[in-house]
Amino acid sequence: MKEIYKSLFTPFKIGNVKIKNRFVMCPMTGTAIINNNEFNYEAEKFYLERAKNGVGLIVTAPSMIFDMWGRGFWLTEAKDAFGTPLRNFVNKIHEEDARVFMQLGVGLGRVIYPKPVEFIKGANIENIKIAASKLRNVWDTSMVHRALTTEEVKTLRDNTILAAKMAKDAGMDGVEIHAVHEGYLLDQFAIESMNSRTDEYGGSLENRMRLACEIIKGIKESCGEDFPVTVRYSVVSKMKGFNDGALPGEDFVEFGRDYEESIAVAKILEEAGCDGLNADNGTYDSWYWAHPPMYMGRACNLEDVSFIKKHVNIPVICAGRMEDHAVSAKAVSEGLIDAVGVARQFLADSAWIEKLKADKEDDIRPCIACHNGCLGSLLQGKGLSCALDPSVMHDEEYKVMRADKAKKVIIVGGGIGGMEAARILTLRGHKASIYEKGSKLGGVFNAAAAPDFKEADKALLAWYEKQMKELGIDVHFGTEVTKDVIEGETPDAVIVASGAAPRKLSFKGEAEGQVVSAIDFLLGNKAVGKNIIVVGGGLTGCEIAYDIARKGGNVTLVEMTDKILAAPLLSAANSNMLRDLMKYHSVEIITSAKITEINGSKAVVECEGKERIISVDNIIVSAGYIPNQQLYEDVKNICDTYIIGDASKVGSLLDAIKAAYKAAMEI
Ligand SMILES: Cc1cc2nc3c(=O)[nH]c(=O)nc-3n(C[C@H](O)[C@H](O)[C@H](O)COP(=O)(O)O)c2cc1C
Ligand code: SF4
Repeated sequence: MKEIYKSLFTPFKIGNVKIKNRFVMCPMTGTAIINNNEFNYEAEKFYLERAKNGVGLIVTAPSMIFDMWGRGFWLTEAKDAFGTPLRNFVNKIHEEDARVFMQLGVGLGRVIYPKPVEFIKGANIENIKIAASKLRNVWDTSMVHRALTTEEVKTLRDNTILAAKMAKDAGMDGVEIHAVHEGYLLDQFAIESMNSRTDEYGGSLENRMRLACEIIKGIKESCGEDFPVTVRYSVVSKMKGFNDGALPGEDFVEFGRDYEESIAVAKILEEAGCDGLNADNGTYDSWYWAHPPMYMGRACNLEDVSFIKKHVNIPVICAGRMEDHAVSAKAVSEGLIDAVGVARQFLADSAWIEKLKADKEDDIRPCIACHNGCLGSLLQGKGLSCALDPSVMHDEEYKVMRADKAKKVIIVGGGIGGMEAARILTLRGHKASIYEKGSKLGGVFNAAAAPDFKEADKALLAWYEKQMKELGIDVHFGTEVTKDVIEGETPDAVIVASGAAPRKLSFKGEAEGQVVSAIDFLLGNKAVGKNIIVVGGGLTGCEIAYDIARKGGNVTLVEMTDKILAAPLLSAANSNMLRDLMKYHSVEIITSAKITEINGSKAVVECEGKERIISVDNIIVSAGYIPNQQLYEDVKNICDTYIIGDASKVGSLLDAIKAAYKAAMEI
């Protein structure tokens, strides 16, 4: 292990529980060990794999005290799940020398995403419309939540205390209370602007913190003083108002919890018996702090979390893109934080800690902070996984099995889909070769990875290239594959991963070189002026608009439909941040609009029957892609042929990797 990382591999304690290193696996919904009151065997496999690979402490995803979909059941009724299955699980985690805390979800209140109510059997929208006070839902502001009655608050408290006792009896090393964090129910009690109660749970800070404190004290009474209770905690809310987040560096007046109150809250929690804070920032209104996308820098919450650590005497864990290990190690060695909270990197690579320890950092498949396979999929009701690894939480479905007979497979196209197919095929024992017509691996992902906020994308490309080399996969550059090539090579199977061509647009009156494709712009093939119109409000168009605007360009985004950022699995954490960034950097967004004509440095934009004249030096076109399917049509009858990724249907990286995996598993 590198000397600079040594502090990360030293033990620390939460209460009396000794944890072998400073790595805490943070909870992720979708992996609750008791879910819907049943023991979750898929989650057990998921956690065990990470325990075998060096994690010090696992905090399991929240098991909800009362069913979040309003079906009326309480966690404390799940006696079977808390029995032998949970006890066995804890024992297996301990055998790997890891520790495990169970996160207890005290409720969501106004932050529940109501859409799944439509497809979850027995879900009852009326039962979930509760909150600390009368508040609007963060996702659907027309939905109003009622305040819990005092009696309901006490029932919730008592059930949380009982669930903690059940977790302790099953051998859990501790519990984490979810959450004075992210604007969840307990946070709605804690934050003044969200709590207008007139009973003992509203008004003064002491009253607003009463529920959290009664829960902690009650657990200590029933489980013993030395049973650790941590709290998931947001240092500050980073809110300008409801549904209005504050960006890094933005000047604003805090609408939620500010620094001064946070010091008081942290001290109140410590005084009540809390043994540690698992901390970051934000609420659902400023979701990108708790769920940082690629536009947010690494270690984005470190400064605020280390601020709060100075005011308490209990261990403080810091989460939020903490995968710059040198920064994390320094923060630990300087005592700024006690441990590093990591979530998504455990999805992108279950063995990343062992690789770090073994000085094989380049072998860690980096999380790219896209949220497509995790948060985005969850909100679409598709369950948690990872865009880079579909086997996450789908172990059986995507298990890599050795092939009975080794086959010769030609992969046409060296983009991510092609490389993933080659990787899986090789792991299965096949002989895979990539034919890439360009001179570089990565395909269109090279353009996507170009902006400087995409450093994780660049690391992913480097990871794939290294895998190709280490697995001994032949890559033929500058080779255009035709039917003749396939007939000459006589492979057993062909995977066509030839990608898609950017859709070209031309405009009446455009000057030569004035219209540039998004790919040419991103790859730096064409220089552009200061006044830019980006055509197309998808993810690529918006990222280009933001990138140019933050570097001083005047940008107008013209989108034909009435929506921007409409990609299906795009998480609100990513899209909200990109929207806020574009607004902050004065990108003008015109929807339901199109360019009808260009006259020199003026563009005519038609929007809902009206014309606008906009100054323009260049137009950057990001209007989607057209699949390259000709080769597939030419060769599909010669041998076993598959078409994957954008060549099949233009989609996301997740789609390309999933399709590659499936094709490689079928051969
Ligand atoms: C899909 C997903 C679900 C999450 N669910 C929870 C949760 O239920 N409780 C919680 O405290 N944090 C939850 N988080 C937040 C993570 O614990 C973590 O703080 C966050 O992802 C930032 O860390 P990272 O950058 O290492 O991923 C979730 C994160 C993700 C990606
Ligand atoms: S889906 Fe994206 S953000 Fe989520 S873990 Fe995988 S790479 Fe990271």
